[in-house]
Amino acid sequence: MASQNYDYDVLVIGAGPGGYVAAIRAAQLGLRTACAEARETLGGTCLNVGCIPSKALLHGSELFEAAAHGTLARFGVKTAEVELDLPALQGEKAAAVRELTDGIAFLFRKNKVDWLKGQAVFRDAHTVAVADRTVTARNVVIATGSSVMPLPGVDVDNARGMIVDSTGALALDRVPEHMVVIGGGVIGLELGSVWRRLGAKVTVVEFLDALLPGMDGEVRKEAARLFRKQGMELRLSTKVTRAVTRGRKVTLTLEPAAGGDSETLEADCVLVAIGRRPNTEGLGLDAIGLALNPRGQIETDHQFRTKVDGVRAIGDVIPGPMLAHKAEDEGIAVAENIAGQIGIVNHGVIPSVVYTSPEIAGVGLTEEQALEKAGGEKGAIRVGRFPMLANSRAKTNREPDGFVKVIADAGTDRVLGVWMIASVAGTMIAQAAQAMEFGATSEDIAYTCHAHPTHSEAVKEAAMAVLGKPIHM
Ligand code: NAI
Repeated sequence: MASQNYDYDVLVIGAGPGGYVAAIRAAQLGLRTACAEARETLGGTCLNVGCIPSKALLHGSELFEAAAHGTLARFGVKTAEVELDLPALQGEKAAAVRELTDGIAFLFRKNKVDWLKGQAVFRDAHTVAVADRTVTARNVVIATGSSVMPLPGVDVDNARGMIVDSTGALALDRVPEHMVVIGGGVIGLELGSVWRRLGAKVTVVEFLDALLPGMDGEVRKEAARLFRKQGMELRLSTKVTRAVTRGRKVTLTLEPAAGGDSETLEADCVLVAIGRRPNTEGLGLDAIGLALNPRGQIETDHQFRTKVDGVRAIGDVIPGPMLAHKAEDEGIAVAENIAGQIGIVNHGVIPSVVYTSPEIAGVGLTEEQALEKAGGEKGAIRVGRFPMLANSRAKTNREPDGFVKVIADAGTDRVLGVWMIASVAGTMIAQAAQAMEFGATSEDIAYTCHAHPTHSEAVKEAAMAVLGKPIHM
C-alpha cells in the first residue's frame, strides 16, 4: 500500500471529529498520514466552537439555575443570594476547550500524524497545496465539515454581539435581556436554554409548525410543551424577513410562514440558527472535476469514495445527519477502507441528542417513518411507552418530565426506533443504539436486567409495554 511516489499514503483535509479520527486511525494502521487544518487549534467546529463549549455553558447554566431557582434548597442545600460570574463560566469553558484541543495535538504527535497548518487547495486528485507547501498523497480524504447557513436580511456580526450565530452566542460577555432565536432546531434550543437559565427572556421563532425537525412527532410536541413551561416563548409557523439594528436594539420583522401581515419584535440579541451547509468553497474541487449534488454535498459510495479516483469524503460534507459522532465513525471506516480492511458505518443506527434539560434523544426510525415504511398500515408496528414520572429514580431526583417510547415491528418484534425525553436521555440512548446494532427485539430489551434504581429502567419498561405490560404503571 505504501508508495514512495507520494509524500503520504493519506492526507486528510480538516481536523474536526471526522478528520482527526480518520487521521489517527490511518496512522494506527501503519499509513503515512498528514492532516491539513487552517484553524489555530485542532478539533474543528465541535471542539472549538460547537459541541464542547456549548456543553460547558449548558452544565454551568444548569448549576446556576439549580442554585438560583430553588432546586438545591429543596434538597437541603441552602445558599446565600446566588450571583452569576459570567467571566468565570466563560473561563471554565475555555479551559475545557483548550484541554481537549491540546489533547488532539498530543494524539497527533503520539501517532505521528503530520499537522499541515493552513487552508488546503487541490491542484490535482493527488496533489494539494497547504499554505506555502505542496504535498502529494495516494489517498485524500475531504473532511471539511460545515458552517452556519446565513439568513438573507439578517446579517451576523459576532464581534458586536447583537446578531450572532452559534459561535457568537457561545462568547457573549453579558446576559441579554431579550434573546430572539431564529430556528427551533438543536442549536437554537441548546443555546437558547443556556441564556434563559442565566436570566434572559428567550423567544424562539421557528418556520415549521413544530420544533426539532427530523425527530419523532410525539417528542417534538412534548418538547415544545416543556420549553414553554420553562418560560421560553415559542413562535411556530413564523419566519423572520428582516433585522434592523439601532443602537443596542435589533428590530426584527416577523411574518406567518404561510404569508400574511407582518409584525415587529425587539431584541438586544438575535441568534441565527437555521441550519448548516457543507464547506466546499475554496477547496479547488473544480481542479479535480468533483461536482456537488443539488444540496451542495459531495456524494460517496459505502466506502466513502467520491467519483474522483483517490479522493474520499466523510462527515458534514456528505449526505446524512451533521453530527460529530457520525463523522467520527465515518473517519474510522474510511481509514480502514483505505488500508484494505472493511470499514462500515450503519447509518440506520445513528443516535441524536439535544442537550437541553431534560435531554431529548432518539435512534432509528421515528413512529411516522416506521408507519410510512409499512405503507401506512397501523397494525404493522407496535409502540410501547413509559413516562419518567413512573420511574423511581427520576421521581426521587424530582425529574418527572419526559417519557421513553420503543417502536417495534409487529411481525418480528425487532426494534425499529427508540425516542425519549429524560434528564439523562443522552446517556440512556446508548443502550438503545447498541440493542438496535445487535438486531434486538423489544423482548430482548424487556428481559435484560437493568440496575435499580436507574433512569434506564424506563427503557426496559417501555420495551415491556410493546408486547405486554410494564410493571410500574
Ligand atoms: P437544525 O436543522 O437543527 O434546525 C434549524 C431550524 O431552523 C429548523 O427547525 C428549521 O425549520 C428552522 N428554520 C430554517 N429556516 C428558518 C427561517 N428562515 N426562519 C425560522 N426558522 C427557520 O439546525 P441548527 O440548530 O442550526 O444546527 C445545525 C446542525 O448542527 C444540525 O445538523 C444539528 O444536528 C447540528 N448540531 C447538533 C447538536 C447535537 O447533536 N446536540 C448541537 C448543535 C448542532
